[in-house]
Amino acid sequence: MSTNQGQYVGVFDSGVGGLSVIREIHRLLPQVSLLYIADQAHVPYGKRQLEEIRSFSLAITHFLLSKGARLIVVACNTASAAALSALRETLPETPFVGMEPAVKPATQQTENGIVGVLATPATFQGRMYSTLVERFAKNVKLLTNTLPGLVEAVERGELESPATRLILKNAIKPMLAQGVDTLVLGCTHFPFVLPLIREIAGPDVKVIDPAPAIARRTAYLLEQSAISIAAEAEIQPVFATTGDVAQFKNAIHNLLNIETEPIQLAWNETANQLTEMRK
Ligand code: DGL
Repeated sequence: MSTNQGQYVGVFDSGVGGLSVIREIHRLLPQVSLLYIADQAHVPYGKRQLEEIRSFSLAITHFLLSKGARLIVVACNTASAAALSALRETLPETPFVGMEPAVKPATQQTENGIVGVLATPATFQGRMYSTLVERFAKNVKLLTNTLPGLVEAVERGELESPATRLILKNAIKPMLAQGVDTLVLGCTHFPFVLPLIREIAGPDVKVIDPAPAIARRTAYLLEQSAISIAAEAEIQPVFATTGDVAQFKNAIHNLLNIETEPIQLAWNETANQLTEMRK
């Protein structure tokens, strides 16, 4: 399979996390062509320097645009924190949908004012997060945790393993002890372990996954930008990875229940460019 030169909504993440976002976009806009890139050669992004993540994000965006993307969804909180403002500055004509931890909705939903935010270290380091806290979280207590190892576990498909359970327990139990009544999933990998999160947090804790809101935002922006790329019938998204195609194919099957042949992409590190490897 290869990318047809067509019109797409381009979607990217460091790995399989953004599949939790593309799932919602496809549910809402089944007739819109979606092209998804997983930068699995570099996953996890969350431990990297913001500058490095920015440079990967720029290269991926340029590749998506070269394939006909008309709108870009940065389906990754970490890449959004590191690169969204630079992307918008560099490409002012391109509409972007970015992600940020759902602190604002959480402050509206919490009843006792104690909110837990789960995200990667790089997301917490970015200016975006401190601005969010300053703007919306003056009157709530925010507890944070980076869940070390969870992104890697989700990449390996370990959604219910004892190790995954332990990572989540270590993060969530202390938050519960401090009275958290709302949890924000500030990393797109985390919705895939939602059943475990709910089990550990219990029925009284609200869990916020921003993916459906991102899908609505994408639909809104397509309309606002007068981009009409919807076909007559449902179209299956096209998937590509800079990592192992066979593993990614499996992950798409397991996480989205979609059978597909992903495209192999390769990095040219010196030129900071992506190329498509044809079969
Ligand atoms: N899925 C990503 C996010 O939303 C990044 C995970 C990672 O690569 O560290 O933050």
